[in-house]
Amino acid sequence: MRLPLIAGNWKMYKTVEEARSLAQAVADDLRFDDREVLICPPFTALQAVRAVVEGTPLALGAQNMHWAEQGAYTGEISPLMLRDLGCSYVILGHSERRQYFGEDDALINRKVRSALEHGLRPILCVGETKAQRDAGNAKTVVLGQVRLCLEQVTAEQMHSLVIAYEPVWAIGTGDTATPADAQEMHEAIRNTLADLYGSQVADQVRIQYGGSVKPDNIDDLMAQSDIDGALVGGASLKAGDFRRIVAFERRS
Ligand code: 13P
Repeated sequence: MRLPLIAGNWKMYKTVEEARSLAQAVADDLRFDDREVLICPPFTALQAVRAVVEGTPLALGAQNMHWAEQGAYTGEISPLMLRDLGCSYVILGHSERRQYFGEDDALINRKVRSALEHGLRPILCVGETKAQRDAGNAKTVVLGQVRLCLEQVTAEQMHSLVIAYEPVWAIGTGDTATPADAQEMHEAIRNTLADLYGSQVADQVRIQYGGSVKPDNIDDLMAQSDIDGALVGGASLKAGDFRRIVAFERRS
């Protein structure tokens, strides 16, 4: 039984005060025991949001990190620093990091391993571009990313890792994957995990869908057998929308 995980990726939005009030609005009277809810504010707001989520069911995560514990890496943030701020999760390999900051699978793999070694749960993002899908290469691309980003990650470590399938063409476009297309890719990812780690491990890894998740499509996405949660961008910036997504209907 996989506990669904709904996560909000706030990207580069919200000042400290704005973040505090958004977190407050999300946390207000939030009660669930059959799902996990996570928010990932920008680094600058982590400390303020931590104070808001303490004592609530909301978990705190970051959107990126460096692989080293410390060192001469100007402008970077380390896993120790994130732990220090109360983060339990970190998003790694988001397509915006791959696209605008040149992150490749080898670098992301290094970050994933470092996060795991430091007790942070990675949300490893994978996904194909529109051109790759149109060329019929979506699965090759995504499953290749999964394999490369998980190199040297052990079966035991896989218990704390989450995968987010985020088709690049669906991010911020309103053009979400159909539940059936998303399910097909999630199933293929789970089969790859079974190949790498055996079916017992594959069955317990949570695979989130991300890309234009909204209040009006979350229920159909979550009804798919291999979709175990959502990584939400735009809609996580509106407390009402995010809370409606968090309150998705459980059908199975
Ligand atoms: P949108 O929900 O805005 O499409 O963003 C998805 C995303 O990138 C989450 O990480």
